Amino acid sequence: MSNHIITSMEDWQKLAATLLKEAGETHLWTLQGNLGAGKTTLVKALCRALGVKTLVNSPSYSLIHEYPSHQGPIYHCDFHRISSPEELLQIGFESYLEKSYYTFVEWPKHAYHLLGNYFKLKVAYLSPTQRSVVAHHVFRQP
Ligand SMILES: Nc1ncnc2c1ncn2[C@@H]1O[C@H](COP(=O)(O)OP(=O)(O)OP(=O)(O)O)[C@@H](O)[C@H]1O
Ligand SMILES: [Mg+2]
Repeated sequence: MSNHIITSMEDWQKLAATLLKEAGETHLWTLQGNLGAGKTTLVKALCRALGVKTLVNSPSYSLIHEYPSHQGPIYHCDFHRISSPEELLQIGFESYLEKSYYTFVEWPKHAYHLLGNYFKLKVAYLSPTQRSVVAHHVFRQP
């Protein structure tokens, strides 16, 4: 478990590297936190740290974005508009879990019961320039 405070936009990149080390072989991550807390900002920093060169601003209506990297695709899921576990099954979310590529899930509320081991992040707004991030491993069978 680790606890971090961000005080500038530059800090996110440093934090991304630190968290990737802490996560180790766990490639499935969840990010909880209010609107505008900084979840997407952190996912973009993580993608950059993993070598993604072109972080295009994907259309906001897509639930799963895919970024190519040297170590395979990286999936960025935003399930804010998902309102039930059934919807996740309908979009085939489980098939992404089987691939064990890096998968970052914002708004994971309806996905938790589908997950095995994952790295759980909580991002919180503290002030216009400050955010807190708490991270810990969750080990369980799906
Ligand atoms: N340290 C900081 N200083 C100033 N602005 C920051 C800092 N960290 C993040 N921000 C800003 O806060 C906003 C966070 O938005 P972001 O889209 O990352 O939030 P989110 O948690 O993904 O929200 P949503 O739930 O809507 O997806 C961005 O506009 C970002 O530029
Ligand atoms: Mg977001």
